[in-house]
Amino acid sequence: MEIRKAVLPVAGLGTRFLPATKAQPKEMLPIVDKPLVQYAIEEVEASGIPLAILVTGRGKDAIEDHFDVSFELEHMLAGRGKEQLLAQVRSISRLVQMIYVRQKNPLGLGHAILVAKDMVGEEPFAVLLSDDIIDARNPCLKQMIDVFSRYGSSVVAIQRVEKNAVSSYGIIKGSAVADSDWSGRLFRVADMVEKPDPRDAPSNLAIIGRYILTPSIFKELSSTRRGAGAEIQLTDALRRLLVKEPVYGYIFEGRRYDAGDKLGFLEATVEMALKRPELGKPFRKYLKGLKL
Ligand code: G1P
Repeated sequence: MEIRKAVLPVAGLGTRFLPATKAQPKEMLPIVDKPLVQYAIEEVEASGIPLAILVTGRGKDAIEDHFDVSFELEHMLAGRGKEQLLAQVRSISRLVQMIYVRQKNPLGLGHAILVAKDMVGEEPFAVLLSDDIIDARNPCLKQMIDVFSRYGSSVVAIQRVEKNAVSSYGIIKGSAVADSDWSGRLFRVADMVEKPDPRDAPSNLAIIGRYILTPSIFKELSSTRRGAGAEIQLTDALRRLLVKEPVYGYIFEGRRYDAGDKLGFLEATVEMALKRPELGKPFRKYLKGLKL
């Protein structure tokens, strides 16, 4: 079955980036010159998914405006002969089709997904957390759709992390699947736990913000009680799902940045800037000149 819909929870308060996020959504913070959420939407499009469902909240209007047509701006750029900028601005409003739904209570990631239930319906769908930027030749979500096409079950993106970092993630316990197409990258998940103490973690395989989920997750979500951080956790619902149907963990190919964390945000900014044709050379020169 095809993956036609992607859910992006964007209602979070962004407290880790205060005061920058006092009056603007954290998803609009730019890496170089592009907001975080645009990286995610571009990955949705590049993965062949035509519709994005954004689960928003109060104070998030800028996201909607960003992906809308800006008549005044286009008119002004056209009048000034700024063709390249005009094309760039236009292309943003021509990305995938988008619908918005509000999460009225900040009850966590699992709750945000549940809010999108009626818009998703009875079909498998993708979830992207825009804090996680994944730079990959073949988009991470596309890689996961390929796994889904073979196995027809839910797939979570995973990555090995330092043992002492496990308490920031959902951590899986899994056994490697013998499949030569994804040798050493694919795991059948036996259990998972949200943000464990390093002493209790079942592995160092951490869930990263990309998921392909079967619609049966909604039933589990609707009866999942609040867990870590007093929030309804997607990890807890997946844990219940995996006793009923298979769930896979997939170590994706690509470089992931945790842009939800200040250090990760800076790493993404530096590395993405170095990759830009117009910026790379002078920026590298500048960095080399720093007396560190
Ligand atoms: C969420 C999930 C967690 C996952 C992480 C990936 O946590 O709950 O399982 O490992 O995203 O970025 P958050 O970072 O929103 O606290």
